[in-house]
Amino acid sequence: MKIKDLHLDAPLLLAPMAGLTHSALRTLLLQFGGVGLLSTEMLAARKLPVENEHLSPFLVRTEQERPLSYQLLVKAVDEVDPALEALHRLHADAVDINLGCPAPKVRRSGGGSSLMDAPELVREIIAEARRATALPLTAKIRLGESFSEEKLQSFCRMLEGEGIDLLTVHARLRKEAFCRKPHWEWVAKVKEWISIPVIANGSVLSVADAKKCLHISNADGLMIGRGAAYTPWLFADIAREVYGLDIPKVKICLPAVYADFVAALVQRFVPERRLGRMKEFTHYFATNYFFGHILACEVQGADSVEQAWQKACAFFQRNDEQGVREAEQRLAEVTALLAG
Ligand SMILES: Cc1cc2nc3c(=O)[nH]c(=O)nc-3n(C[C@H](O)[C@H](O)[C@H](O)COP(=O)(O)O)c2cc1C
Repeated sequence: MKIKDLHLDAPLLLAPMAGLTHSALRTLLLQFGGVGLLSTEMLAARKLPVENEHLSPFLVRTEQERPLSYQLLVKAVDEVDPALEALHRLHADAVDINLGCPAPKVRRSGGGSSLMDAPELVREIIAEARRATALPLTAKIRLGESFSEEKLQSFCRMLEGEGIDLLTVHARLRKEAFCRKPHWEWVAKVKEWISIPVIANGSVLSVADAKKCLHISNADGLMIGRGAAYTPWLFADIAREVYGLDIPKVKICLPAVYADFVAALVQRFVPERRLGRMKEFTHYFATNYFFGHILACEVQGADSVEQAWQKACAFFQRNDEQGVREAEQRLAEVTALLAG
């Protein structure tokens, strides 16, 4: 798949997720393969030009994390140019505009999904962004406030007309929570209305979901969010089983995967930025275990990364003897890393 001049090995995109889509998760995904385009979490366009790329947990990255799309949370046209200048300096491979975030705080500030109610402002923002960058420019939307083919069609066509290169549709209305079934059939409608690539997003958590979503939506590819943290090997499985890509199947050892994530957190993030991210990831990853809620609760209650790690190791000892045996050396390395 190509977005402008950017070649993607697989039409599988990592979703931007606040607190989750950072360097440690991205490198974990790369171990397994199958991700066509990595992403940052949403970055406030206003603050981006003054963020320190070596310290900011939003910007820290390694050379191997490519191609990497940066998602911007924009609420005014004058934020666009300085933010894009910063992204050029950071060697972004693509830029995504957040038009779908339903979080009340984001909406109150005039960004995210509130912009879908302000199509003229969005038109100006996209036009300015298109003028200011030659990078692949993408946008991510939800279906809107309520089902309206007319509104959604005119919004999508406006985005295409202003020069967006790819559109991701999270197939839910603004107020719909994750427990609601996604409306993948609405992605099929969007696909008929515009001719740029359309990516389907929402509750693709398994290979079977991926097949079903593609069948219903006729999308050009998939964006995966929570699945990346539940099962970081999901992209590889989909790339292999749905797209027939030749990606070696690696044996999954859960404690080793968790150890690699924690090691990356410790190596790349300043101490005060580690624990929250460890808790957030564990909330999802723990579901791989039958008694995973215990792991999630224990890590959640920890006061430090060191304590969280000890609790996780104790959990693995009790629930995954085989995994601990296989990952013994890796677990010891991370324990040593944390001991300084
Ligand atoms: C913890 C979390 C944080 C998120 N942060 C963002 C964000 O920064 N920008 C964005 O466009 N969407 C954000 N989303 C929405 C996801 O990108 C995605 O659209 C949604 O999770 C549905 O995909 P999934 O079912 O594959 O998780 C977030 C979702 C979660 C769960």
